[in-house]
Amino acid sequence: MCYIENVSPMKMKRILVKSSAGPYSILSGAGVIRRASREIAGLGRFSSVHVVSSPKVWHAVGKSVQRGLRLSKGGSIHLFDDAEAAKNLRSVEEITRSLCRAGADRKSLVIAVGGGVVGDVAGFAAASFLRGVKLVHVPTTLVSQVDSSIGGKTGVNLPEGKNLVGAFYPPALVLTDPELLRTLSDREYRGGLAEVIKHAIVADAEMFAMLEKDMEKVLRRDRSTLDLLISRNVQIKARVVSRDERESGLREILNYGHTFAHALESVTKYRRYQHGEAVAWGMIAAAFLGHELGLTRADVVSRIVALIRRLGPLPAWPSVSPTALLGAMRSDKKTRSGILRFVLSPRIGAARSYDTVPLHAVERVLHFTPRLITASGKLSQGRHD
Ligand SMILES: NC(=O)c1ccc[n+]([C@@H]2O[C@H](COP(=O)([O-])OP(=O)(O)OC[C@H]3O[C@@H](n4cnc5c(N)ncnc54)[C@H](O)[C@@H]3O)[C@@H](O)[C@H]2O)c1
Ligand SMILES: [Zn+2]
Repeated sequence: MCYIENVSPMKMKRILVKSSAGPYSILSGAGVIRRASREIAGLGRFSSVHVVSSPKVWHAVGKSVQRGLRLSKGGSIHLFDDAEAAKNLRSVEEITRSLCRAGADRKSLVIAVGGGVVGDVAGFAAASFLRGVKLVHVPTTLVSQVDSSIGGKTGVNLPEGKNLVGAFYPPALVLTDPELLRTLSDREYRGGLAEVIKHAIVADAEMFAMLEKDMEKVLRRDRSTLDLLISRNVQIKARVVSRDERESGLREILNYGHTFAHALESVTKYRRYQHGEAVAWGMIAAAFLGHELGLTRADVVSRIVALIRRLGPLPAWPSVSPTALLGAMRSDKKTRSGILRFVLSPRIGAARSYDTVPLHAVERVLHFTPRLITASGKLSQGRHD
């Protein structure tokens, strides 16, 4: 299913992911990038190598990546804007045309170096250029290291909605080096930690306890803590997508907090929250909903909320009615024939998806969550009903 091997001499882990296109490995650990050229050589011979990244990412990590790849001759670098607003078909055209001009052919390799935006766009470009050229991910944000580089989803946004055009296109290899996160902004880093907490809630009670114990070290990006945390999260995502690549069952648990999060992002026009911040609010609401339905015990809710609050203050809950938020949930593209689905966690380390949640329970949660939890991180002192 998901095979793990320790790679000596450094504490690197090789994690095998099963996919419809065959297995691929994720090499995770501090210093992995220094082995990049050796690992890529193991994939076979390529007519040319093309790095796709963004000016911002390349400025931050380009030197170490270039050194690791030993990209002196026969390599070209294609930079495009990685703002979420540029995650569109125009960027795919820009990248593929640039690959053409650089002489790429079917035996070329594309290496996506960046966060989820670079990975999704470059991944889709690699999937469609000449009907598919080999792809390696070098994720450089916490989200891309523990989430988007694993599982083969690639794609872009349309003006009509997020991620509406895409393909399942598993990479040949993922090189995950926590040291590349040094330059990441605090907001992006903490946003990524929300997805880490999500993994702990739905699949790993032991990691949840470790986060409770070591959150200070995690927040200051302590080297060995981060190293361990990232490979553990890679393993969780790898295990889930190995069992359910196409999201027909198990993979849905990774949407914990996301039904709420997508609604919060949509009513604020994607301007107020970094995605992880919306997920943080969404997980608090999901924990309350679990309690409302008699599924999640109060002490579990309290642990979940307390851990999330340690990420720091969140942008305020929007001042819109529960009805408006429910409307946004219904228009989510993942909503199947108007039925709302919520992933709920009966206890830490376990979750499943429910599609029979009474609307009045969701409405109550949407009503009292912002009254119970203030954006500053303190439990509200005021009365709530
Ligand atoms: N394919 C999937 O399964 C999947 C899963 C989750 C998210 N996503 C997608 O991923 C995207 C979000 O990705 P993200 O959270 O990684 O953010 P991102 O790619 O938007 O990057 C965030 C910011 O950090 C910068 N950055 C990246 N690496 C850096 C580094 N090492 N140092 C300094 N700055 C750096 C980027 O230039 C950008 O400004 C969304 O489009 C989302 O839809 C996809
Ligand atoms: Zn997410």
